[in-house]
Amino acid sequence: MPAHSHRLKSATVALRAMGEATNTCRACPLGERATQSVFGEGPVRAHLMVVGEQPGDREDLQGRPFVGPAGRLFDRAVAELGWAREKLYVTNAVKHFKYELRGKRRIHKTPAQREADACLQWLDGEIDLVRPDALIALGAVAARSLLGRPVAVRGARGQWLERADGRRVLVTLHPSALLRGARAQREAAWTAWLEDLAVASEVFATRTHGKRAAAPA
Ligand code: URA
Repeated sequence: MPAHSHRLKSATVALRAMGEATNTCRACPLGERATQSVFGEGPVRAHLMVVGEQPGDREDLQGRPFVGPAGRLFDRAVAELGWAREKLYVTNAVKHFKYELRGKRRIHKTPAQREADACLQWLDGEIDLVRPDALIALGAVAARSLLGRPVAVRGARGQWLERADGRRVLVTLHPSALLRGARAQREAAWTAWLEDLAVASEVFATRTHGKRAAAPA
């Protein structure tokens, strides 16, 4: 087997094992209350990795990232941008759903910094194995996990920032932020979000004949 295919196969196996390991992770208390972990999904050598905050109710039940209301918005954006979701590696900074119960409803709660920190080992592991050329941080939790410092998303949105490993990170709002806001402003918010995301189209446009640029060591 050529060395490249061998590396790809072992990265695929390692990624699957890592996903399974997140399920029993108790580095923070979130795993205890969630249905299951939600690990990343997508090609093992995707050029672009998209990182959200944490799974929501639907994701927790289905065990897949971005399949609920925020995921539907994300899918719409991907379609409008002419990207293909199956070419992206989609994951979250935190792998278990954090919620509080209101009656029978499970309401999303933003993960604490210590919970995001505890989960960083998994996100870093995914980055090491997938070796994306660039990443998109959807929201402040993802931006902080990827960049290792707090980021003012509204000031930094639509710009490439650099990680300690040299990889570029495009920061923008989390799709659920678009679901808030007054109805009249939602269309402008949607257009601005698409403009932010479109900055990452260059990750696809700059490659020729399907070759990936040399990944940083
Ligand atoms: N929000 C996220 O950040 N990630 C998901 O997977 C779903 C909703």
